Amino acid sequence: MEKKYLYLETYGCQMNEYDSDRIINALDAETTDKPENADVIIVNTCAIREKADQKALSSLGRYKNLKSENPDLVVGISGCVAQLYGDKLLKRMPYLDFVLGPRAIPKLPQLIEDVREKRIRPVETSFDIEEVFEIQPYHEQGKSTAFVSVQQGCNKRCTYCIVPTVRGSEVNRPLEDIIRESVYLLSKGVKEITLIGQTVNSWKYDNYKFGDLLHFLAELEALERIRFTTSYPRDITKKMINAMSDVNKVCHHLHLPVQSGSNKVLKLMNRTYTREWYLDSVARLKDAIPDMALSSDIIVGFPGESEDDFDQTMTLMENVQFESSFSFKFSPRPGTIGEKLSKTNEMVDDIRAGERLSRLQEYQKEITLKKNQERVGKIEKVLVEGTSKHDPKWVMGRTDHNRIVNFPGKKSLIGSIVDVKIKEGLANSLRGELE
Ligand code: SAH
Ligand code: F3S
Repeated sequence: MEKKYLYLETYGCQMNEYDSDRIINALDAETTDKPENADVIIVNTCAIREKADQKALSSLGRYKNLKSENPDLVVGISGCVAQLYGDKLLKRMPYLDFVLGPRAIPKLPQLIEDVREKRIRPVETSFDIEEVFEIQPYHEQGKSTAFVSVQQGCNKRCTYCIVPTVRGSEVNRPLEDIIRESVYLLSKGVKEITLIGQTVNSWKYDNYKFGDLLHFLAELEALERIRFTTSYPRDITKKMINAMSDVNKVCHHLHLPVQSGSNKVLKLMNRTYTREWYLDSVARLKDAIPDMALSSDIIVGFPGESEDDFDQTMTLMENVQFESSFSFKFSPRPGTIGEKLSKTNEMVDDIRAGERLSRLQEYQKEITLKKNQERVGKIEKVLVEGTSKHDPKWVMGRTDHNRIVNFPGKKSLIGSIVDVKIKEGLANSLRGELE
């Protein structure tokens, strides 16, 4: 059969990027960047905040006309918004052909066949799908980095979060599967693997824990660097810290979302740790790994957050000095406890939440710039990932600590780890010269 052209639009987190690459392989399709050339259009959506979910839905609207011009075109929605609203989406968008939840990617070829042959509009959002990990992602030739999913879903119940509702509870991927996919990627020239999961460090399988997984992966000779994201603070174990300090392929960077610095708000969020506990864990990590780089996610304006609570977040940031952080205004999500709290607790009005967010982001900018400037004069090991966005004679890569570095260099460096002397520290990246 002729190859089909797939136009794929992806929103949201690394897990969605990974799932989009699985969608490409599930359909054995050729991708196109022109929707008008596509046989199948899929929008892979994110539901984490209201803005994200509206953006995904409005982007689907753009394909309505294409569909009326070409009735053979198949238009589908996948990802977390698909799971959240299910068949309601078919009513809302009469031009939509199918709805596919994040666990159901292996069912995609069947769904498309049903659309074409049976002329039905299938909705597949079941969580009882056993082959959740079955389809491996498409890997772009020549790319030196890759994600490997080790876990689907989440067992935590953070009150603001829609993820457990739309991705289901935690399913850990068997060790052999993770190794098999990693070995395949290495055979394609990959040098760095990032393990992904909602609470990646809670991974367990048989008697193995996350620290063991790091040791197993490190045994793969062609693998040069291991990263992982996102870590849940309460799932940090001694074994994990030891693996991070003993296994030299594991990068010294940890994304460790704190969400808030106020014990009152942490409790309302059901984060299961206190400010003191978090700070103590950071201290333990830095004790074991003195050059550990930390980054974080922070929510401002959670229902009930007072000015004093917000100040506690600012002082926590001052104390930890995150290399970088992603910060968001709280967004009530349907069916979550957070949504209920937004009706019973005192809501932080939007303007005030916006002010808090910009204060926090300004402060983070200062810290990031200062940290970047501190690197000037140092020699960093950089895995070269591609040509630089700004100048084709430059290349870009990342340091062990996940900082972006741009420097003059040939394309032939892509895929190797080189020493770069840092010359300049900018707001979001470093500039240097080959040593
Ligand atoms: N464990 C996940 C977290 C997913 S959500 C991971 O792999 O990253 C990413 C971040 O979005 C969260 O850490 C949180 O800071 C933010 N977030 C989640 N729900 C939110 C909401 N309802 N409003 C605002 N921000 C939210
Ligand atoms: Fe969401 Fe908390 Fe899990 S942020 S993904 S419920 S750890």
